[in-house]
Amino acid sequence: MSNTPAAPLRIGLIGAGFMGSKHAEFIAANPDAVLAGVADPFNDTVAQEYGVPAYADHHELLAQPGLDGVIIVNPNKLHVGTALDCLNAGIPALLEKPVGSDYAETLRLLAAVEASDVPILVGHHRRHHPSVAAARDLVQEGGLGKLVAVSGLWFARKEDSYFDEGWHRQKGAGVMLINLVHDLDLLRYLVGEVATIQATLGHEARGLEVEDTASVIIRFENGVLGSFIASDAAASPWGWDQATEDYNSFPFLPDNASYFLSGSAGALSVPNLAHYSYAAGQDANWHNPMSKVYVEQGTGDSYTRQMAHFVDVVRGKAAPIVSVADAAQTLALIEAAREAGETGGTVTVSDYVARAAAAVTDSAVTW
Ligand SMILES: NC(=O)c1ccc[n+]([C@@H]2O[C@H](COP(=O)([O-])OP(=O)(O)OC[C@H]3O[C@@H](n4cnc5c(N)ncnc54)[C@H](O)[C@@H]3O)[C@@H](O)[C@H]2O)c1
Repeated sequence: MSNTPAAPLRIGLIGAGFMGSKHAEFIAANPDAVLAGVADPFNDTVAQEYGVPAYADHHELLAQPGLDGVIIVNPNKLHVGTALDCLNAGIPALLEKPVGSDYAETLRLLAAVEASDVPILVGHHRRHHPSVAAARDLVQEGGLGKLVAVSGLWFARKEDSYFDEGWHRQKGAGVMLINLVHDLDLLRYLVGEVATIQATLGHEARGLEVEDTASVIIRFENGVLGSFIASDAAASPWGWDQATEDYNSFPFLPDNASYFLSGSAGALSVPNLAHYSYAAGQDANWHNPMSKVYVEQGTGDSYTRQMAHFVDVVRGKAAPIVSVADAAQTLALIEAAREAGETGGTVTVSDYVARAAAAVTDSAVTW
């Protein structure tokens, strides 16, 4: 067996806006990857900064010899088409979330992925955060007893200029698809699949076509109840982005939490991993004191770890932690929440998925 280290993977970037430039940094920080080129019809600044070829069309990038993988970071409505082009070119991809701009179109990608041996990892980066693996282990090992209820919030005030970008104001964006999608994905990962969802949507704070605030009530299939509220118009220190060092663009507030999980024997906040429990032999009731211990977690931030995982996926050493099927289920959940918000009703997620799939089958659309 050779001890020669494998050559760094040549990774292309499709889309070089805010998040594309971050991915260029994550590639540069990984010793097993180098940026091979950037495709963006409107922006060549990242290509110039890294001194790599710029392409106006991602097909040109995908045709470059020696390309090992790409990161797709273009607007949401282009995700499915671009990912299908990668599959056709035989190039593994890290596809930013949401996996598509609607669940129905995502079924096209799902069918293609299942018929292909080219892997696609979807960028629900928070699943890679070390606190998430530790929280999931604690819950699954019964460290909170029987899980009863979960809650959480993501309140942040985005800069007004963020909405100068047209697609950020239009259907296909909004706090649900851009931000809440991460929170609901993580709640699915930590708690389990969702049976039903209710929601209230708010447009009042920004007055845009897309919602700025959304509040959801969840019943999980395992009987756990949950709630979550997200707003991109609400100034606060509470939310994943303020509670982790994932983005250096946001001030970090240590010992902060955005998810609260409670079971019959204890409670846990995430991502600071404060675990509250009763002393051995003490009855678990509110008259007894709870002790607070911080659960140990690994090191690194979500994006660095996601990039390392993508390298393993491209090299065939790991299956994607977030598959297209998994991310599609999260997208269906967001759409079910939207339907619930617009109708004022309760939506059964499995019914929503069945209806969406039937509508695609019944339509004249051919893939
Ligand atoms: N995982 C995360 O933490 C995270 C954070 C922010 C954004 N995102 C996702 O990343 C994606 C991009 O978001 P953003 O905030 O960087 O948006 P952005 O508007 O800043 O950037 C989008 C870029 O795509 C380019 N583009 C447009 N058409 C293109 C095409 N046909 N081919 C290639 N590039 C094209 C635009 O010129 C622009 O540079 C979105 O899907 C968003 O949901 C993920």
